[in-house]
Amino acid sequence: MRAVVETERLLLRPWKVNDQAEAESLFRYASDTRIGPRCGWRPHMSAAESMGDIANLLAHDGNWAITIKSPDGSGEPVGCIELKPVSRHVINPIEADPELAAQYGESLKNAKELGYWIGRPFWGRGYMPEALNAVLGVAFEELHSSAVWGGHYVENPQSGCVMEKCGMHVVCATRHDYFALIDEYHDDVVRIITKAQWCR
Ligand SMILES: CC(C)(COP(=O)(O)OP(=O)(O)OC[C@H]1O[C@@H](n2cnc3c(N)ncnc32)[C@H](O)[C@@H]1OP(=O)(O)O)[C@@H](O)C(=O)NCCC(=O)NCCS
Repeated sequence: MRAVVETERLLLRPWKVNDQAEAESLFRYASDTRIGPRCGWRPHMSAAESMGDIANLLAHDGNWAITIKSPDGSGEPVGCIELKPVSRHVINPIEADPELAAQYGESLKNAKELGYWIGRPFWGRGYMPEALNAVLGVAFEELHSSAVWGGHYVENPQSGCVMEKCGMHVVCATRHDYFALIDEYHDDVVRIITKAQWCR
């Protein structure tokens, strides 16, 4: 998969392992209580934890650090976007409903699921739709995925807004879905964009 994805204002690049400045930048944004829990993980408690997460969870194919192009070229990561295997949060409600299974079952094969967040100082500037459009291009044009799925809590319309801007429509809503890392239940909205919809 492409290691670097460039958009007009952003450079999506691999995470740097064993890099103190990288870990401190991740910690700065991922320690915010308004970030991780909305993605199903706990806020980071220290830069050392961020350093460990980079090595163990983030530094792999299909996961990009979001950096903002700037004249000073600081290149610090301010967020993250990934294409990951489709999770049970998407698969279970589709397979449990015969109508949804008939309509979307094929779209669970050779498909990806999104994950993303960006630091709070950067919200509301359209950065995530810009990153997501570019990553959807990777999924469909390079990986030839059949579909890309996304899920967001009902109480996180900001994320729904990003997916909507990128053509991802609502498939279903789930009730009382369990998110183990934060030990919380949330109602979830499941969205999709298929390859045919992307190509239109
Ligand atoms: C959801 C998220 C990725 C959106 O990224 P973004 O780059 O701000 O996206 P946009 O600029 O398109 O803004 C999306 C919407 O957020 C809302 N928004 C923007 N700034 C906001 C702020 N400071 N406070 C509250 N809402 C805000 C707006 O409704 C905006 O929609 P609009 O442009 O139509 O008005 C970002 O808010 C985030 O990282 N949130 C925490 C983690 C998260 O929810 N991840 C997704 C889990 S499914």
